[in-house]
Amino acid sequence: MKGLILSGGKGTRLYPLTYTRAKQLIPVANKPVLVRVIEAIREAGVREIGIVVGPTAPEIRAALGDGAAWDVELTYIPQHSPDGLAHAVKISREFLRDDPFVMFLGDNVIEGGISALIRDFAENDWNSQIVLKEVANPAAYGVAKMRADGSIERLIEKPAQPPSNLALVGIYMFDKRIFAAVDAIKPSARGEYEITDAIQWLIDRGYSVFPHIHRGWWIDTGKPTDMLEANSHVLEEIRPCIAASATVDAGSTVDSRVTLQPGARIINSVLRGPTIIGKDTVIENSYIGPFTSIYHSCQIRNCEIERSIILEDSRVIDIDSTLRDSLIGRKATVQRNNAKPSGFKVNLGDHSTLWV
Ligand code: TTP
Repeated sequence: MKGLILSGGKGTRLYPLTYTRAKQLIPVANKPVLVRVIEAIREAGVREIGIVVGPTAPEIRAALGDGAAWDVELTYIPQHSPDGLAHAVKISREFLRDDPFVMFLGDNVIEGGISALIRDFAENDWNSQIVLKEVANPAAYGVAKMRADGSIERLIEKPAQPPSNLALVGIYMFDKRIFAAVDAIKPSARGEYEITDAIQWLIDRGYSVFPHIHRGWWIDTGKPTDMLEANSHVLEEIRPCIAASATVDAGSTVDSRVTLQPGARIINSVLRGPTIIGKDTVIENSYIGPFTSIYHSCQIRNCEIERSIILEDSRVIDIDSTLRDSLIGRKATVQRNNAKPSGFKVNLGDHSTLWV
């Protein structure tokens, strides 16, 4: 069994953060989503992993190296243009050979890992298994229609009349039959080789495709609101821990669901979990509320923050109202303007949004 992680793509829905960074490397609860994906695959017992990479390949390679830090072997597979998930499978043929494999979208986060799925696939003689999840708004997803024997009869992209409320999650298992499928299909109306078309090709030729119904949460971190949602879920799951080198002064209150990473300093502040404070970050005279992740080497002074993600080397200083539901990139500054004339002064990057 091998693993294939898709980490190319453009990440346009996460602009401006993804102008300068691979979206899969944005941290959720202070750990890049891509690292969470690698750990989920390794925990299911799969150590040989291919990573499909696009223009952000140098940054991904620099962050992950050969995978030894996570006890896996990584092979990088360049994709010259983001021509679709089935195209990513096609160009990975040499790495995958004839082995069955699990394919995981590099920006998806799932509760409870994928060990049960991998066990299911190994124990059955199926050509493919896809993960489905019950959703409230199936019309917004790829949806599966099932047969009476539990196998999949049809996959329909964003159906006007959904045949079920079971949507495709970005995790798939395949055997080598998928290569004939990805070679046979044509690009869709949006110009991509769609994995749903490849799976439908398998079904139409009598190959067996079965579902694995996922009961926990699953989030595709494609948009800022999804990032915040994933962050909240993961923070609830992690076991809190205060690093030995983190310090909390006598004037501060830090509740039991807070994680402090090495060198974090909490001065005269109140921290309510679940929350994580990164390496060498200083929190002073502030309130940090639940579901907040502040990454490494940040400075937070005289402000209140709730349910937000702040990336490394950023500063939030002297803000009167509570900063909430916010996503702040790297080396950003949010600071009160004390100079005259008073009022707003902004220096926003392309595709930024500021709510006032
Ligand atoms: P998407 O979220 O569908 O695409 P995207 O990353 O281009 O994002 P956006 O729509 O915001 O522009 O991709 C899902 C995952 O699959 C993501 O991790 C990128 C990866 N991917 C590839 O590796 N190759 C591809 O050809 C495509 C389309 C996606």
